[in-house]
Amino acid sequence: MTSIGIIGSGSIGAGLARLAVAAGHDVLIANSRGPETLTDLVGELGAGAHAGTTEEAAGYGDLTVLAIPLSAYGSLPLDVLDGRTVLSTGNYYPSRDGRIAALDSLDLTTAEYEETLIPGAVIVKAFNNIVAHHIPSLARPAQAADRSGMAVFGDSEKAKEIVSEAIAAFGFDPVDAGTLAQSWRAEPESGAYTLIYAADPESFFENFTADTGSPVPAARLRELIAASTRPAVAEREF
Ligand SMILES: NC(=O)c1ccc[n+]([C@@H]2O[C@H](COP(=O)([O-])OP(=O)(O)OC[C@H]3O[C@@H](n4cnc5c(N)ncnc54)[C@H](OP(=O)(O)O)[C@@H]3O)[C@@H](O)[C@H]2O)c1
Repeated sequence: MTSIGIIGSGSIGAGLARLAVAAGHDVLIANSRGPETLTDLVGELGAGAHAGTTEEAAGYGDLTVLAIPLSAYGSLPLDVLDGRTVLSTGNYYPSRDGRIAALDSLDLTTAEYEETLIPGAVIVKAFNNIVAHHIPSLARPAQAADRSGMAVFGDSEKAKEIVSEAIAAFGFDPVDAGTLAQSWRAEPESGAYTLIYAADPESFFENFTADTGSPVPAARLRELIAASTRPAVAEREF
């Protein structure tokens, strides 16, 4: 992997861009307001980072990362994303995205619903179950004893391989966690969501931004995913 397009320059997009540039990748990052608003971020990211339009990021390099609200997936350029490997970090928050019947009814996982919005893209779900500031705080070099696992869900082995390579370069051990239909196992309120990476699970929900994060080795992550239970999405209030 040498080049990655990232759509979304907020907490997750900028965080993954930092790790990608640090790993030696060439990154083109985009947001909704246009490349001219990304001058400071690109300057901070340093050599290897560029700003572009959403269309440019969608078609850039070997992988497109989506770090945008679910409600924005419908505005993505379908023609450019056709056939692309897409790492989707999205989650369904009804308070932000509006209520979506197919998700409330559990007919679809969020990743499967995203497929209906960008049907040509080959979606792989990862980094949706970790709070943004835990991504840099838990990233570790390969072979580090306290490296954390990161769940990877997808229906294409080739796309999962591309995303897994990126995850490993960013500082996590990729854990093949199954298909998009199984990706509820790491959705909000499941047993493998953000709390698993908390340093202090007792106080995490009171003030999660203060939590420094605690490593979750790949073997432990596999256990958590296997034991995860499907949340009642229709009852979700956030
Ligand atoms: N924050 C977390 O801890 C966390 C953890 C796990 C998963 N997630 C999920 O990851 C995704 C990103 O979350 P975030 O916290 O990084 O969000 P964020 O900080 O609010 O940033 C969202 C980014 O998306 C961009 N955007 C919105 N609509 C767009 C569009 N139509 N085209 C191009 N760019 C668009 C925004 O552009 P502008 O800057 O121009 O407004 C912004 O850069 C969400 O689905 C969220 O649920 C978040």
